[in-house]
Parts: sequence; structure tokens; C-alpha cells
Amino acid sequence: MKRALVIGAGGQVGTELVVALRARYGQENVLATDLRPDAAATLGGPFEPLDCTDGEAVLAAVRRFRPHTVFHLAALLSVTGEERPRLAYRVNLGGLLNVLEAARAEDSAVFFASTIASFGPSIPLDLVPQDAAQRPTTMYGITKAAGEMICDYYHLRYRVDTRGLRFPGLISHVAEPGGGTTDYAVEVFQAAVARGAYTCPLRADTQLDMMYMPDAVRAAIELMQADPSRLTHRNACNIAAMQFTPRMLAAEIARHLPHFRMEYRVDPLRQAIADSWPRRIDDSVAREEWGWRPEYDIAAMTAEMVAHLRQRGSASPGIPNRRPTVPR
Ligand code: SER
Repeated sequence: MKRALVIGAGGQVGTELVVALRARYGQENVLATDLRPDAAATLGGPFEPLDCTDGEAVLAAVRRFRPHTVFHLAALLSVTGEERPRLAYRVNLGGLLNVLEAARAEDSAVFFASTIASFGPSIPLDLVPQDAAQRPTTMYGITKAAGEMICDYYHLRYRVDTRGLRFPGLISHVAEPGGGTTDYAVEVFQAAVARGAYTCPLRADTQLDMMYMPDAVRAAIELMQADPSRLTHRNACNIAAMQFTPRMLAAEIARHLPHFRMEYRVDPLRQAIADSWPRRIDDSVAREEWGWRPEYDIAAMTAEMVAHLRQRGSASPGIPNRRPTVPR
């Protein structure tokens, strides 16, 4: 991979992935694209506005830039997906199909961001294996499980080099998530540093897989660089780093901010979504096939999050529950 095109670059993953790719391959070799033209200001470097639901525009961008790899990150997350299920279907699956068609035409590899949400409550949710049955019950999860299969299809049928990861909830101090169930694990840090208190929308004992963004970005790049002959699972690999409940995270934050207080006001939609997801996924296949290893556990992640947000002065009153910009 020498040239990369990132779709959804202004989102939580894209913002940091673009920086990492540019550090590795050079500014001019990474084209950032996003539905929101204002993402250009944050991302810097080569940027084009791009709506992934516009197939002709996706093909034109891939044709012009000729990337070795397209990182496709644009999607509606779980909460927004439940509020607007048909839009989630159109963006998450329609957008992916446009990307795969463009990649097929222009011989690019494709990275697809899948998720722990591609699993559902009909299986045992502790240490969910790579090949567990996928019967998600959210529209977000359904589009991601189907997306994994469509990526496999393009590999089997057209030899497109598709690869993907099942990301856990992602935690970052750089860019906000938007419309996800795991967003609480980012919001809590902002609120803790700014106000010393946070009202959590999930029950105290809700355990989910989580990951610090530097690990997630490195995983995406390492997967795309992995020796393809070693990959028996392309779409998509379980990766894990840490598992915690809101109560455990609050205790960890309190080690740095002793006055921090977590309160709970359970949001029924978010709670139902979280209860349908794995408490932990088994990432042994990723470890064996391409050497995946996380670097951050809950303690290391919390220390960095608090330090970065304190340094920034955290004048912000806390992350608002940002609604992602979505096509009409
Ligand atoms: N972070 C996503 C969400 O909460 C899960 O992949 O929707």
C-alpha cells in the first residue's frame, strides 16, 4: 500500500487514521474524503467532499486518485441506526457496495470497518469466537454483518483484496464519536475532567469490549499490510484490547480524579442495544494470523485520556451527544 483513500475521514476513526497514514506514506499519498466539507479544516492535506451513497462520485474519486487501498469508514452507528433504520441500510450497505464496485473497477484493496455489534443475543456473549453465528438485532449490526459477507463475496467472486476488523467501542481524545452505544466511554472522560461528574446512560454492570484509538488505527494498517497467504479470515477479524463496565471505568478514572462521581440514568434504547452485544470477543485468530497485539489496557488508556484532556484545559463542557451528518 502506497496510496490510500479514506472515506468518512472526518469521523472518529478517520480523523486519527488519516494522520497515521500520512505519517507513514506521505501527505500527498492519502486522500481524505467526507460527506461534510468542513472536515477539510480539521484534516488538512488533500481532501475532497464525498458522499458514499453516490456511486458515480465514489467511482470518480477512486479513478482519479488511484489508491492501493480504500479505507471505508462512513457509516451510521447503532443508536442513530435505530432512529433511522432505512437510512442506515442505505448508507452502510449501499455505500459499501459503491466502494466495492469502484475498487473492483480500479483494482484497489478495501478495508471495511465492522464491529462487535455484528453479533447478537442468540449466542453466549462471553468470549465470542471468530466464527460464532451472527444474528444481530440492530439495523447497524445487520448492515455490518451483511457488509462482512459482501466483502467476502467481492473477494471470492472478483478477487478484490477486501479485509476488515470487528472494532470494539473506540475511545479517543481527538475526535468525538456520534450516535453510538459505546460513546459513553468517551463522553465520561470529557465530563470527568470538565465537571467531575457524569450521568451514564448504561447500567453500572454493562460489560463491553473497548479499545483505545491508537490500537484501533494500528490494527487497521497492520491488517492491510499482512501477508494475504496467512489470512483465512478476511471479513472481518475479531480484535480485542480491554473489557469493562461503567462502574469499572468510573473507578479507574477516580484514581486520577478522586472527586469524580458517576451517576446512572439508564437510557432504554442504549441499554437494550448494549445487552445484545458481546461482553467479550475472542481475538485469537487475529493474533495467530497477522500478529495482532493490543498495547493499551484500561489503566494505560485512562491515564492517557485524562492527561490529554487536562492538558487541553478541557474548557469544553463535555461532549454533546453529537448527531452525525448523514445524507438526506
Ligand atoms: N461504537 C459502535 C456503537 O456504539 C459499536 O461498534 O454503535
